[in-house]
Amino acid sequence: MVLGDFNLMKIDILTLFPDMFSGPFAESIVKKAQDKNLLKINIHNLRNWTKDKHKTVDDRPYGGGKGMVLMIEPVFLALQKLSSRKIYPQLKPSKTEQIILLTPQGEVFGQNKAKSLSKFKHLIFICGHYEGFDERIKNFVDQTLSIGNYILTGGELASMVVVDSIARLIPGVLEEEAIKKESFREIKLNDKKVKILDYPQYTRPEKFKDLKVPQILLSGNHKKINEWRYQKALENTKKRRPDLLEN
Ligand code: ADE
Repeated sequence: MVLGDFNLMKIDILTLFPDMFSGPFAESIVKKAQDKNLLKINIHNLRNWTKDKHKTVDDRPYGGGKGMVLMIEPVFLALQKLSSRKIYPQLKPSKTEQIILLTPQGEVFGQNKAKSLSKFKHLIFICGHYEGFDERIKNFVDQTLSIGNYILTGGELASMVVVDSIARLIPGVLEEEAIKKESFREIKLNDKKVKILDYPQYTRPEKFKDLKVPQILLSGNHKKINEWRYQKALENTKKRRPDLLEN
């Protein structure tokens, strides 16, 4: 496949803190994906979709209580502009576009989700507010995602994590071989599909103080090396993540 055959993935991120994104998306693989024109990331300040002179994006919760709640209107106006779909009264399912709200109440993100999202052409992320968002925003999204059972100050870091893991899976960004043999790849074990961790890797020097590279890796016998790596990957998984094999 030549480079021109790859499709561009577009990612729009709606946030109250656009400056948070400048570092992570300007380095490493995510930068490479953008430089190769395989990925286009646009960061949007939700305040640009407010109508009052103070650019208000949050307000006090109905029913009382502490904190401020992200308002529905700026999110709706932004989505209406950015999405190729009609947002209201009903968001129709799409095979090419996903609107995703980041919240600790969402489905817990994992490698399978990263893989499935990497197949879409357009992703729109809404970074939830640290003190909550108007629940009606959920009517405008295809899915809600959490990056783990802990509370961040907002969805910004979570969206960066999700985008990072998706970017490296976009066809053409990394060599396919690198993706096939990494942690959380699926193998068949006793006729069941399970995920395993990566095998241990070493590089020069062959000996550092008393620490040596396993002899087999210096042997040049690729069949034996592959068997060793498979065994080590399984051992690693049994020791560190037995839950992956319990399936
Ligand atoms: N916002 C706050 N905490 C979060 C989490 N764990 N995942 C996604 N979004 C969040």
